Amino acid sequence: MIYLDNGATSFCKPLPVYDAVRRAMFTCASPGRGGYSLAMNAGYRVLACRERAGELFACDPEQVVFTGSCTHGLNIAIQSLVKPGARVVITGFEHNAVTRPLYGLGVKISVAGQKLFDWEDTLTAWEAALKKGADAAVFTHCSNVFGYILPVEEMAQLCKKYKVPFIIDAAQSAGVLPVSMKRLEADFIAMPGHKGLLGPQGTGLLLCKDSAQPLVFGGTGSNSLSPEMPDFLPDRLEAGTLNVPGIAGLSEGLAFLLKTGTAAVLEKEHTQAALCAKKLQEMGLRVFAGEHQSGTVSFLPPADCEDFAQILAQKDIAVRAGLHCAPLAHKSAGTLDTGTVRVSYGWNACILQTQRLCEAVAEIMK
Ligand code: ALA
Repeated sequence: MIYLDNGATSFCKPLPVYDAVRRAMFTCASPGRGGYSLAMNAGYRVLACRERAGELFACDPEQVVFTGSCTHGLNIAIQSLVKPGARVVITGFEHNAVTRPLYGLGVKISVAGQKLFDWEDTLTAWEAALKKGADAAVFTHCSNVFGYILPVEEMAQLCKKYKVPFIIDAAQSAGVLPVSMKRLEADFIAMPGHKGLLGPQGTGLLLCKDSAQPLVFGGTGSNSLSPEMPDFLPDRLEAGTLNVPGIAGLSEGLAFLLKTGTAAVLEKEHTQAALCAKKLQEMGLRVFAGEHQSGTVSFLPPADCEDFAQILAQKDIAVRAGLHCAPLAHKSAGTLDTGTVRVSYGWNACILQTQRLCEAVAEIMK
């Protein structure tokens, strides 16, 4: 199988990830629920993962909250910062994980910046929208459809200039691009554990500051007499039993990235995405490629996108077609009616994948 759907989930993972999940199933109970060895083992695994995430994302381990997904983290962040009736600025490249919670709150949404791969347009529109006054801003680091890497440092600076609290959706960037809580000073950064961080599905991280409010209430193994959630992080946001096997696997994904370096991962992914874009363009296809692009590239086949992806699937090539849960991004790019076929590389990107994909595309076009 030529797997090019890492934007949905990374596959496969480094081997220690699988080993750690299995080992945790045999050796861990619930953390913080007792002093017996199985509970202590679980506690150590969870702490190690928090510490590794703190190291990779330049924050204190207590600021690292475990979630079930990036969507879960974004919901916590949005519910913490955004009140009904608020005015919220977002970019034209947001995923439904951002737009649906905002829509559900009934807020006034301003969409700023819709030109792909154009930092000047993004920043000009971003500043103009913030200047008008906003209660919060939410922005993606990298488009899940087009791989457009947004100028997040400058966007964060502008939020600070206009005193607008902000949330960064690092769904496609964590593990691939530099993400630093210290540099960005975001109120929240949400990320999945199962994409660039190479952990299992059902894991996610929310990096937060003290403004974080719980979305789910329940037992934490701490302050049990209190009717309220503990006021300290991460317990305030971690009600219920943690996904210890998932976290143990995620911890190994983080260890791999700390050792390899995210820059090396980006280099590999980007090299193949750029080559793939060039080869597809040479075949006469419309390819969405430009500056500031990650390891993800979308193109328009000379047929229905879903049908085209299905033929690729029959040839054992995995890509994702359609709207990618991001209709706003497609609207911005003018592909809302057609969708696109998306090729998304992962940490194991290699030339063989690009060659096989391009050969298959050429065969189908014949
Ligand atoms: N949001 C994920 C994707 O882009 C699932 O495929």
